[in-house]
Amino acid sequence: MELATTLKSQTVHNRVREVGINPNYWYPVVWADQLKVGQVMPVAIWQQAIVVYRDASGQFHALEDACPHKGVALHKGKVQGTHLACRYHGWEFDGSGACVSVPYLPQGQKLPCAQARSYPIQEKYNLIWIFPGDAALSEQSQVPDVPEFDQPDWLMVPIPTHFKAHFSICNENTMDVFHGYLHQELQGWFDPVLINLQATETSVCADYKVSYKGIFTKFLGLSDNAHKVTTRTISIRYYYPHYHSSLEGLSSLYLMRLPVSPTETRSFSLLFVKIRLSKWLVQPIKKLIANFIWRLFRKFVAQDCEMIESEQQSYLANPQRRYVEINPAIIALQHVIVSQYEQFIR
Ligand code: FES
Ligand SMILES: [Fe+2]
Repeated sequence: MELATTLKSQTVHNRVREVGINPNYWYPVVWADQLKVGQVMPVAIWQQAIVVYRDASGQFHALEDACPHKGVALHKGKVQGTHLACRYHGWEFDGSGACVSVPYLPQGQKLPCAQARSYPIQEKYNLIWIFPGDAALSEQSQVPDVPEFDQPDWLMVPIPTHFKAHFSICNENTMDVFHGYLHQELQGWFDPVLINLQATETSVCADYKVSYKGIFTKFLGLSDNAHKVTTRTISIRYYYPHYHSSLEGLSSLYLMRLPVSPTETRSFSLLFVKIRLSKWLVQPIKKLIANFIWRLFRKFVAQDCEMIESEQQSYLANPQRRYVEINPAIIALQHVIVSQYEQFIR
């Protein structure tokens, strides 16, 4: 549905800060190359404690992080072949969560009927994804499509971020292109105009015209002349629960969100940039360029983080306080977040 792009005052109710997630989507939990064969790691998706392990054959598994015997956290255990052994009594569980061995059970005696919950898990784009909702629905849902991942003309910069805030605050920050004001000394964008806004039950798509100027603008291929103002269209696509934004095919940013708890959100971001240098020149210094971009990006994130966490603190101090928003894209985003939660609850 097409929505008006007029900036109009609206009172925001804090319902959006009180909702949980719709768990029937894939959520990223860790970079795949950070979990080596034989390693075990605790993760959390919206307060669900989950243990992820990589077995001897390289396969990933996700189980509820509580032993069905006495509830000890399974992430304290260790990998035995394709199984995970609990640290307390050594009961072993396979990737489906079924108990397959009790070390002190007399020979010939039946294994206890003990089953840990297991979660659908997959690796894609060097990320481990878990489906925390109804496992029967996992096939109907897909992780976001990232076509740039396999294309050699894009330079990929992975960016992990961590906010002590509700996921709705983080998501509003991304949709809110009007906060270029915050980043002005970093040569961010300026003069934003919302030019197109569309929303569905699960998505908000907004296009903004923004202007750039400065040396980074030239480095990132946004303009030929660092001293001249360049105007571009930035397209922001929120497909619940993740983001993709692109800048006229010159850069592409995927924000894969992990809502950890009502006051903690992680983001696994993949930034793709087209560097306007010949490939043979870029190849040997790819890591250096990626590192430079990551350091620059990190400064933007630190500024956002300060604002996001300040917003969260004010909310916690007084959840009844009303706020005023004028960007219809933010209002549309809040509707999607609330309705996705309500749809799950129903
Ligand atoms: S608590 Fe896990 S084996 Fe006993
Ligand atoms: Fe920002």
